[in-house]
Amino acid sequence: MHNSSLTDPSSTAHTRGEASADTAQGLAHAKAILFGEHAVVYGSPAFAVPLHGLAAQADIRYSPGRETRIESQLFAGTVLAAPEPMGPVVAGLRAALEATGEGIAEVELTIRSAIPHGRGLGSSAAVATAVARAVAGLREHTFDEFALHEIVQKAETVAHGRPSGIDAWAVATPAPIRFQGGRATTIEVGRPLTFVLADSGHHGSTAEAVAGVRALRDSAPTTIDPMIARLAELTESAIDDVRRGDRDAIGGRMLEAHRLLTELGVSTPTLGSLVDAATAAGARGAKLTGGGLGGCVLALADSAEQAEELADALRAAGAPRTWTTEVSRT
Ligand code: MEV
Repeated sequence: MHNSSLTDPSSTAHTRGEASADTAQGLAHAKAILFGEHAVVYGSPAFAVPLHGLAAQADIRYSPGRETRIESQLFAGTVLAAPEPMGPVVAGLRAALEATGEGIAEVELTIRSAIPHGRGLGSSAAVATAVARAVAGLREHTFDEFALHEIVQKAETVAHGRPSGIDAWAVATPAPIRFQGGRATTIEVGRPLTFVLADSGHHGSTAEAVAGVRALRDSAPTTIDPMIARLAELTESAIDDVRRGDRDAIGGRMLEAHRLLTELGVSTPTLGSLVDAATAAGARGAKLTGGGLGGCVLALADSAEQAEELADALRAAGAPRTWTTEVSRT
C-alpha cells in the first residue's frame, strides 16, 4: 500500500457548514496527539496537530414526513434501527439539531469518512464535527467554537465515556493546539515538521485504554502520578521546542513519552516494533499516538525525502498503511 500524503493544500477539511437550498455539507479533519495523551485526562496539558488530508464529510437534507435516516460505511437505515456503534453519530445529530434552537427535524444524513476508525486519529470527533457543521448549514445557523465543542462532546461521551475534550478541539481547529482543562490555544510552529503516521493494523479502544490507565493509577498512585507529571513536562518542553524548531529535542521527547506510555500499559508489541523500526530507519523520534492498545505510531522525519524512507521502513516492518503529514510554520 502506498504512503499517502496528508499535505493536500486543496483540502477543505476545516470549512464551515455550507448550505444550498435544503441540503448542506460539513467537513472536519483528523488529528494526531503529539504529546500528552492519557496525562490530559488528569488535567495535564496535551499537544495535538491537525491532519488536514484525512477528512470526514457529512451531507444532510430535510426529509419531512419520513423517518430520519443515516447512510455511512458502517450502517444504512433509520435512526431507530441504528446499531450501538452508531450511537455517537445519533447523539451528535440530535445535539446539533437541538442546539440550533429549532428542535428535532426529519433529515437524511450521509457520512463519508477517510479517517480510519479506532486508530487514535479522532475519527468519532471528526464525524460529529462534520455532522454539526452540516446541521448548522442546513439551518443557516452558526455555532461558535464553544457551542460546536459542546455538541461534539455529547457524541464523544457516547463514544468514549469521559473524554478530556482534546479530540473535539483538535479536529475542529486548523492549527496545532495546546489543550488543558477544557481550554485550547494554538501553538506557534517555528519550522515545518514532517511526520509519518503508521497504522499498526489493530483497532484500539480509547475507552478501554483510559480505563486501564485509571485502574493502574488507582492501584499505585505514587508510581503513576510522577509518570503523568513527567508526560506533562514533556508536553510543555516540546511546545517550546516546536516554537524554536528543534527537531532533535522533539524527537528525544517523543521517545521518552513512548516509554512512559508503554509503562502505563497502553502500547502493544506491534506499536513498540514500529517505533523501533522508525528509529532504526533514522527518525528523530517516534511514539504511539492517541489512546493506544492499537492505532498508530507517529514518527518525526527530517525532510519530505526522509519521510518516504521512513514510510518504506514502517511498511516493511508490518504497517499496512502509512501517511505523511506536514505541520506548517505559523
Ligand atoms: C484520545 O485521543 C486521547 C486520550 O487522552 C483520551 C482523552 O483525552 O479523552 C487517550
